[in-house]
Amino acid sequence: MELEQGYEPSDEKPSDVKIVRTKDELRALLDPLRGGRIGLVPTMGAFHEGHLTLLRAARRESETVVCSLFVNPTQFGQGEDLERYPSNEARDLELARAEGIDFLFAPSAEEMYPHGFETWVEPERLSLELEGVLRPTHFRGVATICIKLFNIVRPDAAYFGAKDAQQLAVIERTVRDLDLELEIRPVETVRDSDGLALSSRNAYLSPAERKVALTLPRALALGAEAARDGGDPVATTRSALEQEPGLKTQYVAVADYGGPRLLAAIQVGKTRLIDNIPLKGGAR
Ligand code: PAF
Repeated sequence: MELEQGYEPSDEKPSDVKIVRTKDELRALLDPLRGGRIGLVPTMGAFHEGHLTLLRAARRESETVVCSLFVNPTQFGQGEDLERYPSNEARDLELARAEGIDFLFAPSAEEMYPHGFETWVEPERLSLELEGVLRPTHFRGVATICIKLFNIVRPDAAYFGAKDAQQLAVIERTVRDLDLELEIRPVETVRDSDGLALSSRNAYLSPAERKVALTLPRALALGAEAARDGGDPVATTRSALEQEPGLKTQYVAVADYGGPRLLAAIQVGKTRLIDNIPLKGGAR
């Protein structure tokens, strides 16, 4: 990740994290702070070290940091895990406080999608491949909520994890296509010591399923190694995944998302997991 050089955040910021529920209140709180750099970290909560890494990057580079905490219903398809998506606002608030975040924006679904809401941001080609084949309305929901957040917060920069590489590419494209004036800051995936990419959905895995899930980062690493040796990263990854009977492979692909990346999605029990790694020359 490229970090800004020579930027010194000032000490003039609220002394404690403030939880904000409405757009109007957030705008009113941010208005007097607009002279300084504002960083936004959009999240769906259930913080893990990956989120904290985003918050820290925003904190380093901004005078005011807003973290949104909103489980966005429009990016979940029918039969997906909206109802059981992990949530623990009190814990998230404590973690945000410990990271020195200024505002935690935690609106209701009605606040973000009032009665009569009918306008969508609909990315095309990029949102129809890979994840989009399995989740056809997912990126429309993601792009719409992100543009709404960008319009409410009007940040100088917004921070996103590279674990969701396609999401990041969709957001970058949307920002470019709609001429929005903010910087999108990618932050590389954070992994547990066993290699599993951190995700709020890891909480769904039983200990036995978690062992199976570790096949995903290992298979991707083998794929990347094959690519370095002139082999086929997709075939290598797929074959490593297929050796584990406890999972179903949904896709394996190479895509140019800010550079070449090897991506895969699997299903372990009821849990879908995605992961990706940069191929040579693909690190952002
Ligand atoms: O990556 C996520 O957590 C979500 O897709 C996002 C970007 C916060 C939009 O709801």
